[in-house]
Amino acid sequence: MIGVDRLFVHCRELVTLSDGPPTGPRRGETMRRLGVIEDGAVAVRGGRIVAVGTTDAIAAEYDAAEELDLSGFVVLPGFVDCHTHPVFARTRENEFHMRCAGADYMAITAAGGGILSSMQAVRETDLETLTERTVEHLWGFLAHGTTTVEAKSGYGLSLAAEQKSLEALAAALAQVPIACKRTFLGAHEFPPEYRDDRAAYVQLVCEQMIPALAPLADYCDVFAEPGVFDREQSARVLAAARAHGLGLRVHADEIQPMAGAELAVEYGAASADHLGRISAAGIAALAGSDTVGVLLPGTIFFLGKTHYAPARAMIEAGCAVALATDFNPGSCHTQSMTLIHSLACTQMKMSAEEVITASTINPAFSLQLDAECGTLHPGKRADLCVLDLPSWRAVGYALGGNPVVMTVANGEPVVANVSEREPDWFEGDDPVVG
Ligand code: NIG
Ligand code: FE
Repeated sequence: MIGVDRLFVHCRELVTLSDGPPTGPRRGETMRRLGVIEDGAVAVRGGRIVAVGTTDAIAAEYDAAEELDLSGFVVLPGFVDCHTHPVFARTRENEFHMRCAGADYMAITAAGGGILSSMQAVRETDLETLTERTVEHLWGFLAHGTTTVEAKSGYGLSLAAEQKSLEALAAALAQVPIACKRTFLGAHEFPPEYRDDRAAYVQLVCEQMIPALAPLADYCDVFAEPGVFDREQSARVLAAARAHGLGLRVHADEIQPMAGAELAVEYGAASADHLGRISAAGIAALAGSDTVGVLLPGTIFFLGKTHYAPARAMIEAGCAVALATDFNPGSCHTQSMTLIHSLACTQMKMSAEEVITASTINPAFSLQLDAECGTLHPGKRADLCVLDLPSWRAVGYALGGNPVVMTVANGEPVVANVSEREPDWFEGDDPVVG
């Protein structure tokens, strides 16, 4: 017998994604290969996956001090949410209801609300408080089965406030057992002091913020959108970021078309995100590249709009497609990947297999973390999402609520969402009860 630290056994279905390659993006037909093992088990040592298989096969070969019985539950790789804005100080429910009553999202920002009201709140909030808020937001992801996130700054819009945001993120990450890639998003909006001299703000981002803040981030993002950063301004930001060693991500073709997907491909960005207004040329550009198309249907839903990204056309063209929450205080206030699954199925006509692949290995590839997470191949981090569902086929079908009963990060149960149904493995105060 081989000794390991922990065995997770009797998973009703263990969705491994391990009948595809461990790394690299999955496109087209390969998005449907889930590698499901019935009555599955996972052996874990040192926070890493040692082996997956049927419970019988794993129990015959591996021996552990601790065994967690996940009978009745569906187990997936921990979700990877590759587009989030968790570093904010206050919520914006007032604007949500203004929009529901007819106000326009971009008009609210143009009038000094929107991103600028979050900017005001971040500038007024001290590092310690901003860190506390960020810690709460990061725990919210874990409570919904997400074990890896990408997290953006972008509500500071000055060197000092962007630095405070990235420092709050770093401090929060030291307190929360979630894996993260950090993104600098100083080019999220034009702050009031530069609204009449936009070129000066682009210069500040490129010549001061990026050089100073690159050590605190892995990626740089830009909101490439008519009326915000135009093509030329966005390109300048991307070029400066690349010159300072940052990977690139782009808020592209979100509200109005701007050939943002093409811009992302041209600069070799890791992702082009939103894409509600992507063109046929943009789809072709993404399909011929390793730039992942990150779709954010929660945002379209939350803004009360209907121009969902053309997921079917993108998948059929061969784009590597990912899904993310876009969690933020303005345009999508949810940390629930399972809600995003429901929207992706109903509004973008994605299949259950596709939404699972799009929230695990493809976003992991977009974060250059595909060797670490996104499938249950041996050697990767033992990050698991345990769902109270009858089958993986119920992904998307389970609308609202939180089907996540346990989240495992690096082999450790870190969240147990238990209610009246209290499984044997929950024995007290170890995991956080969400
Ligand atoms: O991805 N589009 C720009 N940024 C965010 C929204 C930020 C906000 O409204 O606070 C987004 O939707
Ligand atoms: Fe966003």
